[in-house]
Amino acid sequence: MIDLERIRGDFPILDRIVNGHKLVYFDNAATTQKPIQVINAIVDYYKFHNSNVHRGVHTLSQEATELYESAHEEAAKFIGAEGLEEIVFVKNTTEAINLVAYSLGMWSLEPGDEVVITAMDHHSNIVPWHLMSELKGFKLRIVRVKQDGTLDLEDLADKVSSKTRIVAVPHVSNVLGVVNDVKSIAKIAHEVDALILVDGAQSVPHMPIDVRDLDIDFLAFSGHKMLGPTGIGVLYGRRDILGSMRPFLGGGDMISEVHSDVETGKCTITYNAPPWRFEAGTPNIAGAVGLAEAIRYLRNIGMENVLLHERDLVEYTLRRMEELGKTHVYGPRDPGKRLGVVSFNVEGLDSHETAMMLDSYGIMVRSGLHCAQPLHETLSIQTTTRASFYIYNTREEVDRFIEALKEIEMVA
Ligand code: ALA
Repeated sequence: MIDLERIRGDFPILDRIVNGHKLVYFDNAATTQKPIQVINAIVDYYKFHNSNVHRGVHTLSQEATELYESAHEEAAKFIGAEGLEEIVFVKNTTEAINLVAYSLGMWSLEPGDEVVITAMDHHSNIVPWHLMSELKGFKLRIVRVKQDGTLDLEDLADKVSSKTRIVAVPHVSNVLGVVNDVKSIAKIAHEVDALILVDGAQSVPHMPIDVRDLDIDFLAFSGHKMLGPTGIGVLYGRRDILGSMRPFLGGGDMISEVHSDVETGKCTITYNAPPWRFEAGTPNIAGAVGLAEAIRYLRNIGMENVLLHERDLVEYTLRRMEELGKTHVYGPRDPGKRLGVVSFNVEGLDSHETAMMLDSYGIMVRSGLHCAQPLHETLSIQTTTRASFYIYNTREEVDRFIEALKEIEMVA
């Protein structure tokens, strides 16, 4: 069990009064709040250690480098990776997926190849593959989603073939909270020698993850959705695969040697080893320090406990939502099949109107398409209002949310 009172005490923002009410923050799938430990770690870094990494022999640069590299180690431990060479720091999940799409797409994919994605994906796992398929002429195959919001695994098995080079899937839907069976999907991909990339933006912050056990090749996730700062994310890549990949961005620190010939205009360049090969330019060092602190915070709670807490909240929410007469909830009814994301619509109201009315009760939720238009089209819904939970949310907050929705239904 988690000590909710102690945890809530670590988040200064939760003391805010918004529109005359104590803040209820249910927009955690968009970004989470930050505990004081993470805020202090970033402040301390700038106050006492700020310097560039891998670029100085002086004491401050050594300290910054040590902090930055040990943040990679923290992230590696958190997801069961072998070590820092499998952890590339990027800006966010989107950049992680783009890195793979561009590096493999540019240099390894060609007409006749296929990349399999799903109709459940966030736009960040659709658009990069679409752009690259336009450029390189390979084909996209898109796996169907069933009407209950779960992925059609038979369709996936049909669409994965000897032409498939990459299978790129979301671990957890950012709209419905549906958890996909990534381990089985990895098996299907590997049977045809395809690589599997998992968008872990909505899973890594909420459940224990072990990339070895899942047997996946790439995992992308964002720091800001797991108590860390914005502007830092992770691409996990299997050591041998990253080692064989060409860089995505070019610049300082990602090379071993650069020679340029002023007569011929030719450059001879050798690249650094992963992860640095994929981290061109001065990185987000303070972000890495903040992410490492966020990971330590989550590890202290225990990811099993995080998962249990969210499962309890989602189960309680779905149960209490049955009391509502004009509110439709999307996705599977079985709380065991989903994490802490609940999307819904109130009859007679646009999703943004519902979100604005909830805001007037001090309750923050997201509304619209949630960057997942194909999923909304599959379910024949315009937009949805979405409540999403994290470790500091409580059943009492869910009660306030339900009471607010009851009042909103009366005026809808
Ligand atoms: N991907 C984030 C969300 O679902 C921003 O809200």
